Formats: sequence, structure tokens, C-alpha cells
Amino acid sequence: MTQEIVQSALSKVLYPGFTKDIVTFGFVNNIVIDGKNVSFIVDITSSAPEVAQQIKEDATKELKAVGAANVACTIKAPVMPRESSSRGKNIAPQVKNFLMVSSGKGGVGKSTTSVNIAIALAAQGKKVGLLDADIYGPNIPRMLGIADIKPEVNGNKVLPIRAYGIEVMSMGSLMEPGQSLIWRGAMIMKAIEQFLRDILWSELDVLVIDMPPGTGDAQLTLAQSVPVTAGLTVTTPQGVSLDDSRRSLDMFKKLHIPIAGIVENMSGFIAPDTGVEYDIFGKGTTQPMADEFETKIIAEIPIEPAIRTGGDEGKPITFVAPTSESAKRYMAAAESIWAMIEEINANGGVDNFAVQPTTPPGVSACSTPKPAPAQTSGGCGSGGCGCH
Ligand SMILES: Nc1ncnc2c1ncn2[C@@H]1O[C@H](COP(=O)(O)OP(=O)(O)OP(=O)(O)O)[C@@H](O)[C@H]1O
Ligand SMILES: [Mg+2]
Repeated sequence: MTQEIVQSALSKVLYPGFTKDIVTFGFVNNIVIDGKNVSFIVDITSSAPEVAQQIKEDATKELKAVGAANVACTIKAPVMPRESSSRGKNIAPQVKNFLMVSSGKGGVGKSTTSVNIAIALAAQGKKVGLLDADIYGPNIPRMLGIADIKPEVNGNKVLPIRAYGIEVMSMGSLMEPGQSLIWRGAMIMKAIEQFLRDILWSELDVLVIDMPPGTGDAQLTLAQSVPVTAGLTVTTPQGVSLDDSRRSLDMFKKLHIPIAGIVENMSGFIAPDTGVEYDIFGKGTTQPMADEFETKIIAEIPIEPAIRTGGDEGKPITFVAPTSESAKRYMAAAESIWAMIEEINANGGVDNFAVQPTTPPGVSACSTPKPAPAQTSGGCGSGGCGCH
């Protein structure tokens, strides 16, 4: 009996309800062969006992067919519901912590930061998911080199795609390339909820969530659907970007989300030929804002061509060049974020009671009757509904 024989036998075991096998999904670990005895671990995303039973039976059958005498198959399934120090509404209870990556402005490097922080956390031994919640402009599939991969869908449940040791899901993986959808507020809210409820995330230590720019429906829905453990703001050092970043930090405060810190991106330029660092947009301009919001700058990430090509080519710098200066800074930022998450949990975690909608489900705050007489445009009038 060899590793190859065992792998090939287990590749015949389909994940129940899906067309792919447990080896292709990457669920099989720790294969140990002792003569004709084989043991291995299957790390699955479903907590349903019938799924575990089916995999065990099929795997044993396939291995015995190639000559195994004793087969020990240990199934590691998520335990539901899990313990958590966080409270309130949580539609993805198998996820222990949620990290919301935001910025006031577009194009400052949220997706790049989300990808590299997620990979850094995984490199530090955490079980990590990355949700691309930017439904208008999903960039994560390209940045992780999975733009051509379609996820496995079973009914209304979808298995996350695996890349660089993390689980990933993006609207870009569900739509045809180049397709655009016109999103209205209610659709955005529904999409975010489905990303949390209908994606078969494993029992994750942390789900990193790459948000669309700004402070809108997606951010509010996320905060209402799960207790967001911490928020990370990405900014560039120019004054105009900082003005917008203040709004992002203020949003975290309003949504009762603890701030994990600020990443100052495009902070200086490291010349690839000499390694010398130059100041381009101004450096250190972010510190007063960090002080104002009682938080800290957890990384200054320089403009580095390898970061941009890493994004375009699906080869994140933290994975492909872990000894580079930028990768080291992402790793340090991930350590700082994790320390903050642990501290938040040790102090009782977070809750999202305070941000729950006050109107019944399906009724927008704008459609509640107003005592005020003046309704001029068929809208919600001029106050009291939270729209103004
Ligand atoms: N430090 C950096 N050095 C070089 N290029 C970078 C750096 N950070 C980001 N980029 C590049 O800048 C572009 C914008 O970055 P990114 O897509 O991460 O921003 P974003 O904030 O997510 O944008 P959006 O608001 O559109 O979602 C990308 O091409 C990315 O590769
Ligand atoms: Mg983005």
C-alpha cells in the first residue's frame, strides 16, 4: 500500500451531493500507512452525521477494493452551534470571528490588504475564510488566481473555493466574467445575507470580509447579520483619502464595531532595483487620525510593483515572496489584528443588538407611516426614519 494508491482510491469518494471527490476538495489529511492498515482524517464542512457516515462507508469500500485490511477514517466536522463570547444575531455561527475591511474611498487597496492579511493569518495557523463582499466590483478571484474556477453548488448551498490555504467566495465566482448587475439596496442586503448563510464555510477562526468602498447598505447589513469582531480601515496617506477614512472609522463607531487598526497603504515607494524607500504621497499623515479614533497604524505598506503584479496575476506577495519587506509588514499586521481579536473576546466579545433594524422584516424604515404631514415626493419626508 502506498500514498499514491490510497490517494487514488480516495479520489473515487464523492462528497455527498456534489460532483467532486474528497481529495479534490482538499478534505483528506494525515494519511498514515502501516502495511495494509490505513488511517486518515477527513476535514469536512458539514456537521450532518449522514454526510460523515456516507464518506466513511465509501472510503472504506474503495480502500478495501485496493487491498487495505483495516481502515481508520476519522471525520472532523464542525460542531454546531459553537461557543462564542460574541452575542446577538449571527447567521454564520460556525465562524468564530469576523474582520470587516473597509475604506471611505475606492481604490486604496482594500482587496489587496484583505487578501494578504487573510493569507498571513492562515500562515500563522488560523483557519481563514475570505469573503469578497464587493458585489459591484469583485476583484478577489483574480487576485487569488481563481477567476476561472466555478464553485460547487448544491441546491442553494455553495462550497467555498480553496486557494492559498484559505476558503474564498465572491460574487465574481458566481457570475459570468465581465457581467454587470444593477444592484438595488434590498438586493445588496439579500446577497450579503446569502454569502453568510448559504456558503458552506468551515468552522473558521476568522472570516475576512472585503467590503465595497464607502459606508452603505452592505456595511450595515453585515453588521446586522453577524457580530463583527473588529474593523480594519485601509487608507492612503493623502489628505483627501484621510477625509474619507474618517468616515469609515466613524462608521465602525456607529455600528459598535471595535477598531482593529489602520493600514496605511501606498505609504512610500520601495524601488525594486535599489530597495531604497521613497516618500510619494506623504508618510505619517495617518497618525493624527489614528489618535483621534484611539487606534493605531498596524502597517505602513509601501507601493511595491510586486504587490500590483501579485494582484493582477493571482500571486499574492505574502504567499509567493514571504521574505519581502511588504510580506513581513502584512504578517506583523495580521499578528496585531489577531492579538486584538483575542483581547476583544477575552473582554466578553461583541454584540450587534444595538444595530438591529427597528422595523419588522421586509418593511423599510422609509415606509413606516409618518405623523408629519408634508410628504412631497412620495419619499419618506424629512426625518425620523433614519434615511436622512
Ligand atoms: N501597496 C501597493 N503597491 C502597489 N500596488 C498596489 C498596492 N496596493 C494596491 N495596489 C494596486 O492598486 C490597485 C487597487 O487596489 P485594490 O483593488 O486592492 O483597491 P480597493 O480599495 O480594493 O479598490 P475598490 O475600492 O475598487 O474595491 C490594484 O491594482 C492593486 O494591485
Ligand atoms: Mg476592492
